[in-house]
Amino acid sequence: MRLDMAHLRGCGPALHKTVSCHRIKCAVLSRCLSLRETSLILNYYIGPRPMRIFHLLIVVVATALGCQSLLAESPSEIYQRRVIPLLQSSSASSCSECHLQGIKLDDFLSMDPKASFASLRARGWIDIDNPSDSKLLQFIAKKPEDSTDLMDQVRKSELEGIGQWIRASVVDPELLDTPLPELNDLKLDEKLIRHARKDHVVSRFVDIVWSQLERCANCHSPDRNAKQVEKNGEQMSWIVPNSPSETLQLLEDRSLINLENPMASFLRTKALGQDEHGGGIKFPLDGHTDREWSQFLRDYAAVKSNRYDRSRDIPNFDSIRTWRTGLHLRIKELPSLAPGQYAVILMHRITPEGNVEKDATAIGEGRVSKDGSSWSTSMMLLEPSRLRHTQASVDWKALLPDSKYELRWIVVDDSSTPVERILAMYPSMRTEIDSLWKTGHSAAKTIAYGAFKSIDTPQ
Ligand code: HEC
Ligand code: HEC
Repeated sequence: MRLDMAHLRGCGPALHKTVSCHRIKCAVLSRCLSLRETSLILNYYIGPRPMRIFHLLIVVVATALGCQSLLAESPSEIYQRRVIPLLQSSSASSCSECHLQGIKLDDFLSMDPKASFASLRARGWIDIDNPSDSKLLQFIAKKPEDSTDLMDQVRKSELEGIGQWIRASVVDPELLDTPLPELNDLKLDEKLIRHARKDHVVSRFVDIVWSQLERCANCHSPDRNAKQVEKNGEQMSWIVPNSPSETLQLLEDRSLINLENPMASFLRTKALGQDEHGGGIKFPLDGHTDREWSQFLRDYAAVKSNRYDRSRDIPNFDSIRTWRTGLHLRIKELPSLAPGQYAVILMHRITPEGNVEKDATAIGEGRVSKDGSSWSTSMMLLEPSRLRHTQASVDWKALLPDSKYELRWIVVDDSSTPVERILAMYPSMRTEIDSLWKTGHSAAKTIAYGAFKSIDTPQ
């Protein structure tokens, strides 16, 4: 004895308005198998003729057994009810906890469930055989260590809503038959996705800004600035000790990074002395540090404001990392140099055997003072290439040992010259020191220009 499908299809008005015959059929056949058995048995006793009674029985039994929920929703109804609100919600999708740009749920899910399903399948993000293992659900399930309660809530709703929709869709023959589109959209630019990942953004912050914060920490880090806070107020503390990612977030929250006009960020303009700054000028306008900070700030603002369309808009970040050492150096009694002239000092170690090492260990950049008489800076360790692209902070003391050093003086006309090029320039003057000196402003080493000897032949 067979269940007569053609007959079932004709059931229309007898059924509850919102429950279509099609779904009754599907639900009964695919999920409420015990119902099918029940009806077959009933059918056997009642005989084939009174089909109407038979239909009625199915509905009554289905309702009585609480199968209503199974009968109730199609994939596209689930999508309307559970997924669309996620796309329209004002809170960011869970992806944004790790991907600052380039990945948003609504890049992959549109208002059209059928098209969304087909394109997700084309991407390989849906596993038809094991829907719960779908790549999209794995992406959603990723959770950063520093996740917030709010994002946990968002992640949960996404997993449940999208999970339910995927599980319902993979058993829908019509959806499975939909041809897969060709994936020619450029939304998934792998290089851009990588560039905009939060861990990469934070690692650029470490390389470029955090590495220099030693020169700000005495006044701006809460573990050292009690006196400054007493004098100037709580806003003095904007460094979170040992946490670059929280520091970056705090700088943004406090508007010390300006996302609309990154070059006008107080973080930069205060350090340059462009805005009046209680700490004075920390590094020269347009010099190496300023260029690096500016590039970081522009890039950060672009990522946070979704301004990159393609990875080729991303600037090149390959540059030598430098680390603040806390060693201050001043050269006095300069000969006639224009106020504001940009110049650098390179420090080359002299080995115990008396050989001057080829590669510079540290560099200092600065501009000649307003009266033209002196030049000062704090020295930066040049990170050896073997340590590049490591996340860890570098212990400059281990890499800049106490020793004899040769100091080389180079006047650089174009302050925008990349540090790699400066390292290849011929110095005009040199002098030697017997040992390192103490860190801190008050212990700055002062050398009279007269101690330098000119270098005639290129070395
Ligand atoms: C906890 C952090 C985290 C979250 C949250 C996260 N991702 Fe990722 N994502 C990563 C990391 C890390 C990678 C690099 C590849 C890897 O290690 O898996 C990545 C890589 C990717 C890639 C490119 C490489 C690939 O595997 O195809 C895509 C696409 C992607 N994620 C999409 C998403 C989407 C969509 C979401 C939100 C539903 C999301 N991610 C949420 C950390 C995260
Ligand atoms: C010798 C102490 C000192 C040092 C070192 C110092 N600053 Fe400051 N900074 C101050 C004082 C004092 C203020 C408060 C008055 C003002 O706004 O100029 C301040 C304010 C700031 C502010 C504004 C904070 C706010 O929320 O109002 C920023 C940003 C800033 N400094 C950046 C820097 C950076 C970047 C460095 C390191 C490159 C640095 N400072 C080094 C003393 C210092």
